[in-house]
Amino acid sequence: MKGKTVIITGGSSGMGKYMAKKFTEAGGNVVITGRNEERLQEAKKEILIEGGSLFTIQMDVRNPDDVKRMVLETVEQYGTIDFLINNAAGNFIVPAEKLSINGWNSVIDIVLNGTFYCSREVGLYWIDNNIKGSIINIGTTYSWGAGAGVIHSAAAKAGVLSMTRTLAVEWGRKYGIRVNAIAPGPIDRTGGAERLWESKEAAMRTINSIPLGRLGEPEEIAELAYFLLSDHAAYINGECITMDGGQWLNQHPF
Ligand code: HXC
Repeated sequence: MKGKTVIITGGSSGMGKYMAKKFTEAGGNVVITGRNEERLQEAKKEILIEGGSLFTIQMDVRNPDDVKRMVLETVEQYGTIDFLINNAAGNFIVPAEKLSINGWNSVIDIVLNGTFYCSREVGLYWIDNNIKGSIINIGTTYSWGAGAGVIHSAAAKAGVLSMTRTLAVEWGRKYGIRVNAIAPGPIDRTGGAERLWESKEAAMRTINSIPLGRLGEPEEIAELAYFLLSDHAAYINGECITMDGGQWLNQHPF
């Protein structure tokens, strides 16, 4: 990671922030993006307590012009881009029949379209400059099962999984670019934990559904992302690695 540049979208909170911490500690040049400048600055302060190199870009992954600017500003700041982590997400619990068209579009725009816009723009930069970069998309285990109560997020993340595999084949074959995904289960200190299991009862139900009997830690996701971007994972391409304590397999508890 020393001297390598990584962009983490949605990097001012949750898993994004912990990945940014891990990568700065490992000597990387880290770019975090987010919609809210104040939150970006707070995250920067927190992440840089131990030192390191971090640059913030206020932008919205839903806006293709912002995404273009993200690439330009990163290259201006650090000279190149080595890795992209599509981490920005939007989600809220709502019964499918009550979800408005705007609500549907807003999550699809952030999760599905935003992931494509960022991958496309960074991918074009890599292709033009002959760089064998690597992408990690943050997915979820309900993207291949049922996301009851979060139909917008489930449909968008299923698309992200398909995008992961498709780009891994297209860009792996032609350009040596690797594209992988991480499917986290319930992870503590993240937007998911705050929004999706906000009541004590919901949190207990969630914990009881996990064979290992605990939530995941964001640091564990950061370690996995670090491994996937490293040379140790140079032959892993198009894979989605689940980190959920075995939760999604727990269909018939006894
Ligand atoms: C019903 C809702 C709603 C809610 C928003 N809407 N929240 N409908 N219930 N709780 C509707 C609004 O009424 C509006 O529709 C439409 O969605 C757009 O809302 P805005 O607030 O105008 O959108 P915007 O400001 O763009 O915000 C996007 C957002 C917001 C997705 C709605 O929640 C957001 O910014 N989230 C980012 C952070 C986040 O969600 N993190 C959690 C990620 S966790 P109408 O029809 O009224 O105009 C995750 C993985 C979980 O993704 C994995 C678990 C294992």
